[in-house]
Amino acid sequence: MEMAALVDEDEARRPTGIGEFDRVLGGGVVADSLALIGGDPGIGKSTLLLQAASRLAESGRSVLYVSGEESARQVKMRSTRLGIGGERLFVLTETNLSAALAQAEALSPALVVIDSIQTVYSESAEQAPGSIVQLRQCTMELMRWAKGSGVPVFLVGHVTKDGEIAGPRLLEHIVDVVLYLEGERFSNYRLLRSVKNRFGSVDEIGVFEMTGDGLRGVENPSEAFISERARDGIGSVVIPTLEGSRPMLVEVQALTSPTVTPAPRRTANGLDINRLLLVSAVLSRRLGESLAQQDIIASVVGGLRVAEPPADLALALAIVSSQKDRAVGGDMVAFGEIGLSGELRSVGHLERRLNEAERLGFKRCLLPEANLRRGRPKTSLELLPAATLREAIGKGLQ
Ligand code: TYD
Ligand code: MG
Repeated sequence: MEMAALVDEDEARRPTGIGEFDRVLGGGVVADSLALIGGDPGIGKSTLLLQAASRLAESGRSVLYVSGEESARQVKMRSTRLGIGGERLFVLTETNLSAALAQAEALSPALVVIDSIQTVYSESAEQAPGSIVQLRQCTMELMRWAKGSGVPVFLVGHVTKDGEIAGPRLLEHIVDVVLYLEGERFSNYRLLRSVKNRFGSVDEIGVFEMTGDGLRGVENPSEAFISERARDGIGSVVIPTLEGSRPMLVEVQALTSPTVTPAPRRTANGLDINRLLLVSAVLSRRLGESLAQQDIIASVVGGLRVAEPPADLALALAIVSSQKDRAVGGDMVAFGEIGLSGELRSVGHLERRLNEAERLGFKRCLLPEANLRRGRPKTSLELLPAATLREAIGKGLQ
């Protein structure tokens, strides 16, 4: 009987040197792994992979970047603009998969990038590139090749609104690692999220900022996301939220204004519209806030999405603060899930949230009383526990 030797985890993992990228991968690119990086067109997938490829190429190993989307000249121009490249980064314009793999065999690189899986085709299938059959066939062939050669392969996959089913989601169960690069259209921030990782945790996320010379890792996202906060603090509340296991401070804003349409409008940017509807309903019915004639616009600053219920309290406070023109203390953070009777429900990862707020210099924290039932957490923050939304608003507004 033959047995595969157990390779030391760290030896089979090669860091790209882009910290935020390596963090999401669980430390680096794993030998013979097949990874998919998905995202909307134009979000920055090619830029990120080109940067990662060139960093690896700078460390002395060759990297093959197969581009079916852009000509080699375009890719070269881009890498010149990014100030990267080097002799060991080989760019190949090819859509025929077996031709690309033949080149890869010859080069024996440290990494192969296929940009994108939608543009390559396998001769063993007759359908057009990008069709379901081709996507599956090419991904399978690449999987076999990666396992056989020991060379890690990264696939780029576009996610489009109408083609989502036929896109990367279809490939998720075949590949070892699935990452998504996300961001709001007009924001400079990009999040790299792992939704599947056979070699690591899916709790890690990477934060990047788009710049003229490519994506730059943001090592201190909290600082970045609250850096432009308005001083008067009206309609603005900071919440320590969790992205995977990573705590991050973000600013939630709300603006109420008298409605001119028959029905008042509710707009949520970066927040779950259903949470906004719930929070405004509870404010109207349980606290007697007159929001029936008010439009409400709520946003998360920086283009992030905060979907977790603990953001309810920050949202409610921001709405009431805007409505009453009363400030929320600039040294305070707030979190808590709001129930339909107006009660505050406990949230998870208490200590991580408190630590992050403390680290960024906040002094006070408004939180559900239910979170303190099992003892007081260790923190230097002044804790302001509240059992109900009404009580929290009393304590939170200045
Ligand atoms: P690109 O990497 O081509 O996106 P994708 O491969 O996901 O379709 O990026 C889209 C455009 O944005 C491209 O013209 C380059 C530009 N860009 C920057 O100028 N700076 C950046 O940091 C990023 C990520 C992109
Ligand atoms: Mg691209």
